[in-house]
Amino acid sequence: MANKLKRRKEEKMLEIKNLHVRIAEDETEIIKGLDLTVKAGEVAAIMGPNGAGKSTLSYVLAGKEDYEVTEGEILFNGENLLDMEVDERAASGVFLAFQYPMEIPGVATMNFLKAAMNSQRKARNEAEYTTPEFIKKVKAASADLSIDFNMLKRALNVGFSGGEKKRAEILQMALLEPSLCVLDETDSGLDIDALKIVSDGVNALRDPARAFLVITHYQRLLDHIVPDTVHVLYNGRIIKTGDKSLALHLEENGYADVIASAA
Ligand SMILES: Nc1ncnc2c1ncn2[C@@H]1O[C@H](COP(=O)(O)OP(=O)(O)OP(=O)(O)O)[C@@H](O)[C@H]1O
Ligand SMILES: [Mg+2]
Repeated sequence: MANKLKRRKEEKMLEIKNLHVRIAEDETEIIKGLDLTVKAGEVAAIMGPNGAGKSTLSYVLAGKEDYEVTEGEILFNGENLLDMEVDERAASGVFLAFQYPMEIPGVATMNFLKAAMNSQRKARNEAEYTTPEFIKKVKAASADLSIDFNMLKRALNVGFSGGEKKRAEILQMALLEPSLCVLDETDSGLDIDALKIVSDGVNALRDPARAFLVITHYQRLLDHIVPDTVHVLYNGRIIKTGDKSLALHLEENGYADVIASAA
């Protein structure tokens, strides 16, 4: 058993090689030769100044249309992620929690969750959940995240506070059981208790067969979700990689010396 887990841990789950991305509309290059490898079981933190390209990277992983990959590749479990449609990516286990979660008026959160879970199960050739099965799962997962079950009857994210949106995203993540979780600034706007709840939710999902890309500006989150690796994204590239001590270094010294030594 231990051997099997160890072997899984060494498997590359996400391999990004020499990625170049530009905005489709005006051809501005945002990602400029980015290399990043994340292994199964790994929690990788991405830090970097405003405008470095962190959210752009998460959008490209999700397959958002406005971006154009001009060079390089992204392999997900050895398969070309860029060849996959957005829904195929989700079905194959890629999950993104966005910096600004989308509001979907008219769609109750419950119905959204059920549709998301069942479409994914369908794509995996698994039986769809019945309503009682689904309700049982959602009740348990929302209790774990201290989410009021009644909130899930409201339209998705509409009128949710910033912190409630973030919790709702972690709830989706817990229910969808993805293999690659990309969290873009999940900590922003969370109060201290919510930060702990969300971090505990993420930690509960840590698994040798799952990987996390945690995009954050603050060491504070990484006290709760302790990363295996820390990567500095600057001007469209990863300019430095280290362990959790790199995040502490950045917190104390800012980005200047890391940027200067990469130049
Ligand atoms: N659709 C777009 N049109 C024009 N510029 C864009 C577009 N999307 C991103 N950019 C630009 O690309 C750069 C990278 O943006 P991105 O959102 O990826 O940064 P970030 O690292 O996530 O920053 P932050 O820490 O502030 O969230 C920014 O200069 C941004 O203005
Ligand atoms: Mg961003």
